[in-house]
Amino acid sequence: MTAPHPPIACAMGPSLSPQAGRGLKRAPSSGERGEGQGEEQKLAINAPLSPAGGAEITGVDLALPLSNEGLDQIYAALLDHQFLVFPGQNLTREQQYAFTARFGEVEAHGGGRPGKRQDVAHVTANLDAEGNPSDRFAKGANYRWHTDKPYYAKPPALTTLHAVELPPEGGDTEFANTRLAHEALSEDMKARIADLRVVFQWEAGRRPGYYANELPPVDHPLVRTHPDTREKALYLGNHAMRILGMGEDEGATLLATLLNHATQPRFTYAHRWRPGDLVVWDNRCTLHRAVANYEMNRYRRIMHRNVVKGGVPY
Ligand code: OGA
Ligand code: MN
Repeated sequence: MTAPHPPIACAMGPSLSPQAGRGLKRAPSSGERGEGQGEEQKLAINAPLSPAGGAEITGVDLALPLSNEGLDQIYAALLDHQFLVFPGQNLTREQQYAFTARFGEVEAHGGGRPGKRQDVAHVTANLDAEGNPSDRFAKGANYRWHTDKPYYAKPPALTTLHAVELPPEGGDTEFANTRLAHEALSEDMKARIADLRVVFQWEAGRRPGYYANELPPVDHPLVRTHPDTREKALYLGNHAMRILGMGEDEGATLLATLLNHATQPRFTYAHRWRPGDLVVWDNRCTLHRAVANYEMNRYRRIMHRNVVKGGVPY
């Protein structure tokens, strides 16, 4: 950690990063800001992690300054593989925030309530107000297939989640690749859904009393185009209430059919967390859900999380 590293040759050079385009704007590294150079780290990308996508990235300590080249490699891997696993990380909440902020503007958490620190990763855990593990969280929206905050007009592009304390077994997170799922639809179905829009609202998360009614409904394309790869993906899941211009039953049936399709085993990957794993996923082309496959009343599961703002889906 403390040994000096040679400066990376291209840290100051022009970036060919895909996020310099329509998608995310990468934040300047400390090198670009004139505060010194990024560390040289030899990233290894092991992919695919599963037939449903994913890549494991080793050879990088995300607590250290990351060169622009390293960041570009990571973002390119995210575009290629939809979700990334970085094993063996040990980040403070500040360091996780700093890493996440390299991809773009970090979303304020908890509606930006005053008194909440916004410059760190926030804690998400199965702990009640007394700090005891509880299974009541299994009823929460995180345990249904979803993409993060689709009820925002500009939903998050990506999320980082870091495993801090885990049950001895289980507590998995499952991912579904909605790009592959869209690709595998029949041409008839693709044509039928191509121009449909989904109405999302927080209330559809069915967690009464929590933010209920605070946010007006928004509608987004059911088939969205990734701003960087131009690839299409299904955009649906929890918080999807209905399809614009379609009867409630017909819309609900179509949404259920497509969700069942997208979450078949061939499009999904279950991540079995190890302490220190940091996972990054692309909310524009994946769904995810927490799995209650451990004794939630007995064991603590503590994760740190940040979300990067995205653009208006199209
Ligand atoms: C999230 C989320 C699932 C999990 O952080 O957005 O849905 O397994 N997490 O904790
Ligand atoms: Mn989520």
